[in-house]
Amino acid sequence: MNDRLLRAARRQPVDVTPVWIMRQAGRYLPEYRAVREKIDFLPLCKTPDLAAEVTVQPVRRLGVDAAIIFSDILIPTEAMGMELELGDRGPHFPSPLRTAADIEKLAVPDPVERTGFVAEAIRKTRAALHDSVPVIGFAGAPFTLAAYMVEGGGSKTFILIKRLLFEQPKVAHALFDRLTRTLIPYLEMQVEAGARIVQIFDSWGGELSPRDFESFSLPYLTRMVQAVQAKGVPVIVFGTAMSTHLPLLRRTGADVIGCDWRIELDQARALAGPDVALQGNLDPLALFLPHAELEQRVADILRRAGPVGHIFNLGHGILPPTSPDAAKHLVETVHRLGCHVTAPPTP
Ligand code: CP3
Repeated sequence: MNDRLLRAARRQPVDVTPVWIMRQAGRYLPEYRAVREKIDFLPLCKTPDLAAEVTVQPVRRLGVDAAIIFSDILIPTEAMGMELELGDRGPHFPSPLRTAADIEKLAVPDPVERTGFVAEAIRKTRAALHDSVPVIGFAGAPFTLAAYMVEGGGSKTFILIKRLLFEQPKVAHALFDRLTRTLIPYLEMQVEAGARIVQIFDSWGGELSPRDFESFSLPYLTRMVQAVQAKGVPVIVFGTAMSTHLPLLRRTGADVIGCDWRIELDQARALAGPDVALQGNLDPLALFLPHAELEQRVADILRRAGPVGHIFNLGHGILPPTSPDAAKHLVETVHRLGCHVTAPPTP
């Protein structure tokens, strides 16, 4: 197996900086759009053969060093009893959580029974890839999932979820605890199915002040990180607009912290300390720069990150109008410029 990604996550020397792209099976790939013409997004997530096929597409086309399983962070919320729609305008919950009684009604589901299709998709992906690169499992963080479940969908102001935190903190904690008790077995199931590394998405954690992040997200992230690590698998914690939370994120004990483009990686290193790997952090829109300028930015990120403990990635997901050729050029550029003399010892 090409294990560069796993080595970098553990801050071991690598021959070449590993790279993968978030939302990699997204709508920018024509071969993905061809599958989506025949099937909606949620049924696609629940059909392991097809989910495995679209997981593998970017590995084949781009030569990335890992495959993130095709699914969505909101899948477990449906298993908890929420009605979920994932249409063209993003996620929507027709009956959002409004009261303590709504939260009490949420199930803590058996992961295999309710979301076994994710495990099956991981097994099929591994077989399709002949284990050539590691499969990344993932879940959303409790705060980020709760934000969707309470707001009823995406939000710019997060008024409803923040009011819940401030007006009814005990109810909020009960929701985060229930989510954590759902997500830990869900991630354990993915590891048992063969995910070699796990990423936790706290996409909206950066909306919280440091003190609120510390009370309402950090304890639950930490529980998830520790449970996955207890299975011998490294964990990446990712969020956006989180630069000021880096010292707190470090306290989760995650092996890797994912950074967006709002901070330079050498500054991120200074804030996060030496004992963690960093992932990131090219602005996804930089894929629209002329080649020479993109290459300069890649070189700059590689220089700031240093040769050990760095996984190259975009600072957030790749966007639909991006050209697959630009993504391929990025991967080739990282592999060319991120080539280190210290080859890992062959086992
Ligand atoms: O990289 C991958 O392909 C892995 C699969 C993956 C998806 N979503 C597929 C997807 C992963 C890791 C996610 C994570 C996810 N989903 C997050 C965290 C990452 C982030 O963006 O911060 C969040 C917040 C979601 C919730 C979600 N799902 C949103 C906001 C949307 C709409 C996105 C948009 O740009 O309109 C989705 C739908 C979704 N999830 C798509 C894909 C490929 C698009 C579905 C389609 O129309 O085919």
